[in-house]
Formats: sequence, C-alpha cells, structure tokens
Amino acid sequence: MRIAKHADEGSFVSSLCEGASVVMQEPTAKVSVLCDGFGSLPTGESVQRFVLENGILSVGLISHGARLASLWAPDRTGKRANLILGCETLSGYLNAHDAYLGATCGRFANRIAEASIEIDGILYPLSANENGLHTLHGGALGFDSRVWKATTLEDGVRFSLVSEDGDQGFPGTLHAEVTYRLCDGSLRIQYEYVSDRPTVANLTNHAYFNLSGEGSGTICEHTLSIAARAFLPVDESFLPTGEIAPVENTIFDFRRAVAMGERLGRNDSQLQINRGFNHTFVLATQDLPAAVLCCPLTGRKMTVLTTEPGIHLYTAGFLDGSIHGPSGRPYGKEAGLCLETQRFPDSPHQPQFPSTYLRAGEVYRSETVFEFTTFEFQDEN
Ligand code: BGC
Repeated sequence: MRIAKHADEGSFVSSLCEGASVVMQEPTAKVSVLCDGFGSLPTGESVQRFVLENGILSVGLISHGARLASLWAPDRTGKRANLILGCETLSGYLNAHDAYLGATCGRFANRIAEASIEIDGILYPLSANENGLHTLHGGALGFDSRVWKATTLEDGVRFSLVSEDGDQGFPGTLHAEVTYRLCDGSLRIQYEYVSDRPTVANLTNHAYFNLSGEGSGTICEHTLSIAARAFLPVDESFLPTGEIAPVENTIFDFRRAVAMGERLGRNDSQLQINRGFNHTFVLATQDLPAAVLCCPLTGRKMTVLTTEPGIHLYTAGFLDGSIHGPSGRPYGKEAGLCLETQRFPDSPHQPQFPSTYLRAGEVYRSETVFEFTTFEFQDEN
C-alpha cells in the first residue's frame, strides 16, 4: 500500500478525487457492522455506538464526536488488545472533554491565535476556549462535542454534521462527513467538507495510540519514525512561531526510527514547554508513509498514510491520571500518543503554511489510513 496522487493500475481507488485518496488493494476480509445505544446527553440527544469487525481488526466508533473509541488488533502471537485510549461510558467522555479522546476535531483542529480570523477583509471573533485567549480544536463546542448523524455502510460508518453559519464564530454553513472503513488490517478515515460561504476548515482525528494496549503503561518503549524534513516550533502558548525549521541535528529528527523514551528524556526547551512533543511535522512526500510506530514488546506496528501535508505528534504530556480507561487503569503522562494528520495549526495567520481557506462550494477531501501489522524481530521498522 502507498499513497499516490494518481491511481495505480489494478489497485482499488476510493471514489475520492485524485490527490485526496490513499491507494489500497481490494480488501479480502468481509466486514460486519453492528450498532447499539451508548446513552444520551443531558440535552436528551441519544448517542450510537458501532462495532466494525472483519476477523483481523475490531473497531468501536461512537456518534458523539464521530469518535474512534476502540481498536482491537493482534500482536505477534495473534492475541488482540485495544490500542486506543477511551472511556467505558458516555459520561466518562463528557468528563474527559479536554483530552479529545479519539474525537474528530473541527471545524479547525489545533489552535487559532487570538481567537479570530479575517476572511475577505472581515474579522470574525471565534470561541476563545483556551484560557480565554485562543481557539483550540474548533472552540468550546467543537465537532468533538456534537452528536453526528450516522449511516452504516457495507464496510464502515459515515458520520455527518451540519455546522451552522456562525458556529463558534466561523462563517458559512459547513457540511462535514467523516467515513471510517475497515479494509483488512487497515482503518481508513475519509474526510469531506463543503461550506456555502468562504471559511477556514481543518479536520483531524485525535486518537491516542498505545500499541501494547490502553492502560498498559507509557509509550516510552515504542519506536517512531516520521517522514518529515521540517517541523513547526511553538511558543509558550503552544502556537507555531511561523518558522518552518529543519529537523536535521535536532530532537525532531524522526527520519530514522527512534525510541520515544530516549527522545522524551532529552533536555530541550520545546519539550519542557509542551511536557513532551506537541508539534506539527511537515511531511516530505505523499509517496512515503507519514509515520511508523512500533512496539518491540508485542510486535505490533502501525503505519500511517495520509494525503494531508502535516502530522501533529502529541505525546499526551497533559494527561494527569484523572481519566480511567476501559481497563480501569488511569491514563497518566505518555499513556498514549496522537498522530493527528492535518494542515498546520494557526494557518489563517501564517500565509507561508498550506492554506486552510475554503471557497464557497469548494469540496475539500482528504484521507488517512492506519495500517496494523506485526513483526517478529525487534529491529524491524
Ligand atoms: C494539542 C495539545 C492539547 C491536546 C488536547 C493536542 O492536539 O496540540 O496542545 O493539549 O490536543 O488534548
């Protein structure tokens, strides 16, 4: 499997437009899709839960936040574990709101400085949900807090949401769809959105992965590689400074696999500000996997492919043990890590970053694939 701008002959290509899909082989394992209730919000809105199963992976999704709630994958002996940090109940997710566990973040993932944007000469104040100063993950009532409409598909679930004109301050009514599909050992997430007025948009998924199983400790023993020659340094407010800095000779050089514990232990001011990594990496090319995460202990390997130009690595420095997962064990610092594929934080204020401007009627499409395999030897990556 690889990412391509153009379809390979004989490969299966989704109906997404050229440049917005990951090229994959035709799946062989049949998918079953089950649905049940997952409680209701204080507003009375009921929430659905879905389980996709194909004999290789089992994926749990919930309509609150169009959320990836669980993902069971085999280790090198065939034993499955749940690799996603999550909660047992809906009230658990509501209490854990600030962690954005497995959620779809939008209308604008990560931060927008000073909670305002200017579009075509008009200034729009946004929800200032980070310390009353900046916008984080789309505002106080971002897409992670909404109940999305769900449609089951042969191999997955499509979630849709209408975000009204003025929602969290953003102009334009935005119709968003997030589709999760199982494809043998891979989970594909497809994004599609369109607005009736010019706006900005940038959606991602905020799943925390721990390849030895949620609640089983930290990700310090994992190794990670990221196909990025540059990254975005941040200031004390976690906002990009605007610089696109080379990774060469820095702790941000993940072009070869590195052990997370060794990197997280380095004495570096960027790591101190963020209690670990909380940085966007600029992907070099779509022809390589964006990232590869390995767990030598279990032999699990996750390969991330995306059509997006950036990947935000967040090593969960702000988890403090107050959230307990389905395992019953608390999630502390580094209990998982997020690999959020997206365009860059604060792009509306940084003209040198890839644009997040969406013209009226323009359809934005992107796709990210998380592929799960196993390896026998510790040095594979
Ligand atoms: C952000 C972090 C934030 C976290 C919230 C990440 O995407 O970059 O700064 O603390 O989301 O869980």
